[in-house]
Amino acid sequence: MSWVKESKLSWPQWLAAKVMTAGPLPRHVGFIMDGNRRYAAKRNMDKVRGHVEGFDRLSDVLNWCRELGIREVSVYAFSIENFKRSVDEVNALMKLACDKAELVIEERDKFAEVGLKIRFFGDFSLLTAEVREHLSRVMETTKRNSNFALNICFSYTGRNDILRGVNNVLRAVREEILEPSDVCSGVVDLSLDTCDSQPLDLVVRTSGEVRLSDFMLWQSDFAVIHFTRVLWPELSFWHILGAVLHFQVHLPFIQDLKQKHENGKDKLCRDVRKTQDFLQNVRLISVTEETKKIPNMGHRGGQLMDEISRFEAEISRSTNAFAGPPSTAFI
Ligand code: FPP
Ligand code: MG
Repeated sequence: MSWVKESKLSWPQWLAAKVMTAGPLPRHVGFIMDGNRRYAAKRNMDKVRGHVEGFDRLSDVLNWCRELGIREVSVYAFSIENFKRSVDEVNALMKLACDKAELVIEERDKFAEVGLKIRFFGDFSLLTAEVREHLSRVMETTKRNSNFALNICFSYTGRNDILRGVNNVLRAVREEILEPSDVCSGVVDLSLDTCDSQPLDLVVRTSGEVRLSDFMLWQSDFAVIHFTRVLWPELSFWHILGAVLHFQVHLPFIQDLKQKHENGKDKLCRDVRKTQDFLQNVRLISVTEETKKIPNMGHRGGQLMDEISRFEAEISRSTNAFAGPPSTAFI
């Protein structure tokens, strides 16, 4: 099953999409993909088969979102809590992630053609060296694509994202990039996995659960939350359209609230560009530091280490070269 589906919408789907896209669209949609094991149990399948079919549905969902003109999607693929599942299930999910990462490399031309970039959000330090290497290679392979971003939350919780971000802010304070009094919510925004993302406008959770389960807690402050009873592998184009309609109905109220919030919001610290560059670099360096711990990777490992060294040299050049005036975008 390919990542990049070629299938076109049927004519009723196309017509409905035309009507829907006349209205405002969410810039960034989060999916809490829940219900794979119940789907498998309903069909007397092994639960791992439920996750495999869940991946197939993910590739359909990406296709439908692209057809609707949505440019960014984040999916909750593996929570830090999921490490508490049986060893067999955790191993099967890690293997699925590695297999699908290898498929990205095989399909890299298709990814480039449709402009699909994949980023992984989460705590890499909790993953094995093998999995970290696969995820890094996917990010490296697709990083120049720019039509559509898929963020895969893997070894992720929202709390952990905030904690890692706050630690990066503390590092910026220790290195005197920031004064303690500069730290405000805008600085935390810049320190999160989503620092390059569009605001999260819509979160969809399948399977009838009505919780966020620690998914993008900081980012979902003004998101419309849409719960649907359908199990993830059964999610259809029409369910997505229903979620977008829900978003469109609630948007005017949310925009009004957001406006009031923006008016009273704390100003971002004085030297925005410098902080932004520093926090992004710290994030990237911590990802590469985790990847560096990979032992015995043979010649692929050697290649990767070379790439990391080049990458670090680039980061240190751009950090030293920084001089520009602060951007006004966040002030
Ligand atoms: C939640 O359903 C689903 C997961 C924990 C795994 C989600 C993974 C995929 C959809 C595959 C995506 C793969 C890649 C490589 C991105 P559940 O297991 O909690 O099912 P249940 O709620 O019925 O118990
Ligand atoms: Mg579940």
